[in-house]
Amino acid sequence: MTEQPLIEVRNLTKKFKDFEAIKTPGVSLKIMPKEVLVIIGSSGSGKSTLLRCMNRLIEPTSGQVFFDGVEITDKEINIDDVRKNIGMVFQAFNLFLHLTVGENIALPLKKVLRLSEDDIEKRVKDNLRAVNLSEKEDSYPGELSGGQQQRVAIARVLAMRPKLIFFDEPTSALDPELTGEVLSVMKKLVTDFHYTLVIVTHEIPFAKEMATRVIFMDEGEIIYRGPPGDVFENPSNERLKKFLSKILEMH
Ligand SMILES: Nc1ncnc2c1ncn2[C@@H]1O[C@H](COP(=O)(O)OP(=O)(O)OP(=O)(O)O)[C@@H](O)[C@H]1O
Ligand SMILES: [Mg+2]
Repeated sequence: MTEQPLIEVRNLTKKFKDFEAIKTPGVSLKIMPKEVLVIIGSSGSGKSTLLRCMNRLIEPTSGQVFFDGVEITDKEINIDDVRKNIGMVFQAFNLFLHLTVGENIALPLKKVLRLSEDDIEKRVKDNLRAVNLSEKEDSYPGELSGGQQQRVAIARVLAMRPKLIFFDEPTSALDPELTGEVLSVMKKLVTDFHYTLVIVTHEIPFAKEMATRVIFMDEGEIIYRGPPGDVFENPSNERLKKFLSKILEMH
């Protein structure tokens, strides 16, 4: 029996007014369980738009998205059920500043999953431990470094036990030394917890090491895809080559 993709996207396009952020005939891709799919591409190429269409934070203009074999672009579906299973970590950590770290993690467990107080407390502690921040449970986000805040955001997503997690440039707001601690937590999600991840990132060494496949987007299209070896070591596409040399210059 062949394994079913966790996500399948067919001919997805997205227009904002007349502007095609994801161009016709659209993007198609499959994400298999336990894959680590890395998406690269220059600013404005449509990476965030694609992620957001895949969990319907925004509505695609056309095309279909299937999650675990169910079409989630079907308007009849309860999208909240789907979103429980697709965690999302953003560049800006999006923590509630007036709540403690523990309360930030507890909130969706209470409001969305409606877990008991005991279950919530256990999940808060377990997941803070997973990101090495047990001692910060009672701190406020403003008392934490950027890297620590992002690890709390990751713990908050993990506590929901989603089937896969999207990361949209999780380290691009961080200094290099803080970037490292967030990337090492993300590595642990793969090596210890076997999570399926989709990651928009410009951290090329991380992508080389962790990606099972890489997608390169340019001007609203996927113009190259392949295993990290093909994409980074020996790219045969001119636009990709140009993009990679620009990234290398910046780092
Ligand atoms: N809500 C919106 N309304 C209008 N245009 C939008 C909207 N969101 C994105 N766009 C446009 O769609 C294009 C793709 O944007 P997107 O945010 O997906 O790019 P990106 O690849 O994630 O870029 P970056 O690396 O800067 O995050 C851009 O030209 C952007 O200006
Ligand atoms: Mg983006």
